Amino acid sequence: MSDAEFVVVANRLPVDRVVGPDGEEEWRTSPGGLVAALEPMMRSARGAWVGWPGQPDVELEPFEINGIDLVPVSLSADEVEDYYEGFANDTIWPLYHDVIAPPQYHREWWEAYVKVNRRFAEAAAAVAAPNGTVWVHDYQLQLVPQMIRELRSDVTIGYFHHIPFPAHGLYAQLPWRDQVLRGLLGADVIGFQRAQDATYFLTAVRRRLRHDVKGSAVTIPTDDGGTRTAVARAFPISIDTAPYLELAARPDVRARAAEIRASLGNPKKILLGVDRLDYTKGIRHRIKAYGELLEDGQLSVEDVTFVQVASPSRERVDAYVHLRDEIELAVGRINGDHDTMGHTAIRYLHQGYPREEMVALYLAADVMLVTALRDGMNLVAKEYVATRADNRGVLVLSEFTGAADELRQAVRVNPHDIAGLKDAIMTAVAMPPAEQGKRMRSLRRRVLENDVNAWSSSFLRALDEVRKR
Ligand code: G6P
Repeated sequence: MSDAEFVVVANRLPVDRVVGPDGEEEWRTSPGGLVAALEPMMRSARGAWVGWPGQPDVELEPFEINGIDLVPVSLSADEVEDYYEGFANDTIWPLYHDVIAPPQYHREWWEAYVKVNRRFAEAAAAVAAPNGTVWVHDYQLQLVPQMIRELRSDVTIGYFHHIPFPAHGLYAQLPWRDQVLRGLLGADVIGFQRAQDATYFLTAVRRRLRHDVKGSAVTIPTDDGGTRTAVARAFPISIDTAPYLELAARPDVRARAAEIRASLGNPKKILLGVDRLDYTKGIRHRIKAYGELLEDGQLSVEDVTFVQVASPSRERVDAYVHLRDEIELAVGRINGDHDTMGHTAIRYLHQGYPREEMVALYLAADVMLVTALRDGMNLVAKEYVATRADNRGVLVLSEFTGAADELRQAVRVNPHDIAGLKDAIMTAVAMPPAEQGKRMRSLRRRVLENDVNAWSSSFLRALDEVRKR
């Protein structure tokens, strides 16, 4: 069935398994921005999506859902442990996020990574139409571009890296650093979130592989004695803004926002954090700063509530288990010290919510705290901004997120600087409505003009230019 003109390859398929009341199984598309951006393209161009269904030992035949052909890649329980939890999320993830947690280097994890990357590459090579386009996504699949090129030299290959790429001094720790660079360079266009990420990648390529690098172009020697060119540059990703605008305007969602405020005792100000429970997100730093503000008496639980949604993530990886313990201990202590019968300091929710509920929360929140220690982009910041059509609310944004390059009118913070973080929270809490409006209007212009469709079009245009060469 090699007839897909456009193939997406990502670790996960854009579907969730839903088990009905009578135990029957069904797959539903998960509402990510990436799917929304690529769906029209996938439908018009005979598209296929190659990915893992998210559970071990699930053997599924290719199936179609909402006009997209899904090509499931099966992973055994051992492979989930070594490739996904191990190499992807306990080696590459911490290394690429500036070693916030110590990366583990294990040869058997690397071997599983190579083996599983080959399986994804073979699946993509089998479905791509002659001279088709294959777009590979993210750090779980860095070897796939080169593996596809070896199998199918006719296809055009794009790769987008959703997370940061580290400075050379850190990258050099990786025992398989040269193999990973060669894997990525199999793509014609290698996209990063920030200009900085592309620069770090190009530096590693120059220093480690000694390839010629001019601007964003890398000249790569080929086996036949010639050369080919790969381009590496920034394409900052965004969100599908339409559903946020629609939900924010819906009376029932607005009523839900009011209900949330009421259920928290109608505090004067609601602070909000929304993250996957991940050590890159700076949740501990945020909680520490907030706890000190209560302790100092600068804030009081009578006036302010902090809502932290921390959705469960990678729960079998040790670093995540420890993080959860630390955060829950900190939340318990602060609430124990400061709660009253009627008011809570931190409403902590270790749960995921549907988009409607998230939009209601964004509308209820006066201050959005995005204090990641390192983050490729941070789409929560953009979701909050897109939702605030009323031009109210303040975004506190870490300078270590990709979003900080674009969202210049946010209150910027260095989350490692707890004193600075406390000042930023107080500035946000006290910001007059006129100043909020001025900043939010400018933030919204940026997010609405550069949505996920603009992102995917610009990436695919760059890929087209390479194809024409
Ligand atoms: C980040 C990564 C994605 C990943 C997501 C959720 O955003 O860039 O590639 O899918 O986290 O993580 P998970 O391990 O659950 O897929």
